[in-house]
Amino acid sequence: GIQWTVYPNHRAASHVAAEIIAATLSETPACVLGLATGSTPLDVYTELARKHREEGLDFGRVTTFNLDEYIGLTPDHPQSYVHYMNKHLFSLVNISRDRTHLPNVQTDNLDESAKQYERLLKAAGGVDLQLLGIGANGHIGFNEPGAGPESVTRVVDLAPKTIQSNSRFFESEAEVPRRAITMGIATILRAREILLLATGSSKADAVAEAIKGPVTSDNPASFLQTHANVRFLLDPDAAARL
Ligand code: GLP
Repeated sequence: GIQWTVYPNHRAASHVAAEIIAATLSETPACVLGLATGSTPLDVYTELARKHREEGLDFGRVTTFNLDEYIGLTPDHPQSYVHYMNKHLFSLVNISRDRTHLPNVQTDNLDESAKQYERLLKAAGGVDLQLLGIGANGHIGFNEPGAGPESVTRVVDLAPKTIQSNSRFFESEAEVPRRAITMGIATILRAREILLLATGSSKADAVAEAIKGPVTSDNPASFLQTHANVRFLLDPDAAARL
């Protein structure tokens, strides 16, 4: 089953995630990290940047792969995930840009781009440690309800609930992209270790279903039950239904 721990608050849970990532980086400087976006991991990146600045945490040999990217935003759009990663992590640490990866959406052939991303991931030896958030509907990456356990990196439609929920980052709901490229469930499950960070009451149902519910496409995060090394880091609100 999925291991889970409740921390006093979002900050404390984020610091534990940063500790675990930092320990992996120290043990294996040339590791492959799987990274997530959204509001949840912001404090993790802030803390990793602080560890780099103040404690010399070295990102010089690390390779990163992000889970997903919106289709239809230019890289300089403030809500694109490439912009987010540059702003919140990559520009703050000594990471080599040619070893950071996000799905390329600036192309006419999105299906080919998704396949290429999956090939790149395999060529890099797969993800050692994958950081995840979770959507209120149980999505991981942009694997919305309906996503199957065999799914790999591909073009997907966002669920209406996700468009609505992510509209808080845009001027209006109409501006939220309708599609994305995301790693699949099978892609995510190939990571050797997975950390899922979830905080706030809006995640309580999705978290409880993922850990205690059936393994089902209705809650894509429930497929994490089939992985041998998954930890959920929670705050009391997100753990309220457990
Ligand atoms: C987004 C991302 C996910 C993220 C989730 C939760 O749309 N694609 O990777 O985990 O939704 O977002 P937040 O952390 O802002 O609640």
